[in-house]
Amino acid sequence: MADATFALPARSTTPQLTLAKKAPKSTDAFLVPVLSGDDGLELPASTLLDDAALRTVLRSLTAVGATGRAGEITRVPAPKGVSADSVIAVGLGDPEDLNDEDVRRAAGTAARSLKGLGTVATTVGIFGLAPAVEGLILGAYQYPGVRSEKEKASSAPVGTIVVLGDPKKDTAEFDTAVTTAEAAVFARDLVNTPSSHLYPESYAAILSAAASEAGLEVEVLDEKALKKQGFGGILAVGQGSARGPRLVRLTWSPKKAKKSVALVGKGITFDTGGISLKPGAKMENMISDMGGSAAVAATIIAAAKLGLPVKITATLPLAENMPDGEAQRPGDVITHYGGITSEIINTDAEGRLVLADAIVRASEDKPDYLVETATLTGAQLFALGARTSGVMGSDALRDRIAALGRTVGEPAWAMPMLEEQEEELKSPAADIRNSHNSTLGGMEFAALYLSKFVPEGLEWAHLDIAGPSFNNGSAYGYTGKRATGVPVRTFLALLQEVAQER
Ligand code: BES
Ligand code: ZN
Ligand code: ZN
Repeated sequence: MADATFALPARSTTPQLTLAKKAPKSTDAFLVPVLSGDDGLELPASTLLDDAALRTVLRSLTAVGATGRAGEITRVPAPKGVSADSVIAVGLGDPEDLNDEDVRRAAGTAARSLKGLGTVATTVGIFGLAPAVEGLILGAYQYPGVRSEKEKASSAPVGTIVVLGDPKKDTAEFDTAVTTAEAAVFARDLVNTPSSHLYPESYAAILSAAASEAGLEVEVLDEKALKKQGFGGILAVGQGSARGPRLVRLTWSPKKAKKSVALVGKGITFDTGGISLKPGAKMENMISDMGGSAAVAATIIAAAKLGLPVKITATLPLAENMPDGEAQRPGDVITHYGGITSEIINTDAEGRLVLADAIVRASEDKPDYLVETATLTGAQLFALGARTSGVMGSDALRDRIAALGRTVGEPAWAMPMLEEQEEELKSPAADIRNSHNSTLGGMEFAALYLSKFVPEGLEWAHLDIAGPSFNNGSAYGYTGKRATGVPVRTFLALLQEVAQER
């Protein structure tokens, strides 16, 4: 098929990670963890430095004022007889209440400082192998952009990182952490890709290729098939664009699966707002409005690579929200897949329209859980800030996912459905309306709207990731600027848990 002609115009560069008992013969640097204990700087003993080298390095670090506080990076010349040019110390902070996220962030901050080095050996994994590996890969992440060849070469990240551990017993944990981080990397690459290159047709083809390669079943509905089957929400949002919408369905169904999870993700490849046009300032960030679908696709592909014994479906509605002569209007009434009708109050509330169709479709398979994520509302940022996702849905699954998010370093918080908004959903012209024309509770209203498409009794959750999926601020820990890969690691943690359920 013509599908094969589409590829991402740029892929990120990330280091090669290996697990080994000892450092290689020659390295550019050793990366070692340090702590700020009660008596000041602490340099834990490790296989990288013998006693004499340890004392020398500690003296050097102290001499230049290292304290071991979280995220502090200090680089000193390596002592004689050590197979590295320099020693880089990364602070983990107080050893008393050290958690996985502290390790992940320190490793990430360290990785961001390793640019240009060839080979680095590190012992950060002694405080948590998986979080160290995730932090190193995600922290070293660099999106090169679509550039001329000459400029490309100038931003090389660290080449190889040798993580010290015991390959005999640590390989499974190491490999899972690499696959998990690479999934977040894939989601980041998709989100960072400009909409000139990523639009429903090309996006569907790129996902199909990646998914087939991982052994997933793939189905893509084009505009014609969407019309035939009545996907009125996806069609309405896509009708103002010259680049027609798609619905991508990916399925992972291993034989040993006991439970099934339906994942759904918003895939608006660019959101102008449509006829309810957005203001121009920062509109370029709306290339990230497909972050939910990117996270879901990356998750199901990683689940297949990990061989997780859970049945998983991914339902990804892809459309470009543009304002041309065929675009939908405020006041229009559309009929969703499954028959519910919506009055369009605001064409910029388009995510919920495509998700409504997708949720109904995903529910047809009668999954045990339905988990959906979307860059759905600006209101999410007002309610919870830029880094914390809002989680809504049925009580148990909502609370479970919010808690899981916090343990993997993707902050998330449970939010309520608001009874007073039931009234605001009512429309004079259709079953419900897509916006309530109020400045209050916009994130919760969107969730309430979506809830009308979830079958009675199905455990479901909705994650609004408008802020957390795209970092508009400066880099911190293992989170660089722009795409973050949220909530891929939360989803993989959930699927790993569900795989244990009978
Ligand atoms: N894609 C936006 C939400 C968004 C805003 C994501 C900022 C990331 C950063 C969504 O489609 C949207 O425009 N929502 C409207 C809804 C409103 C018109 C009811 C919003 O939040 O303003
Ligand atoms: Zn919008
Ligand atoms: Zn949107």
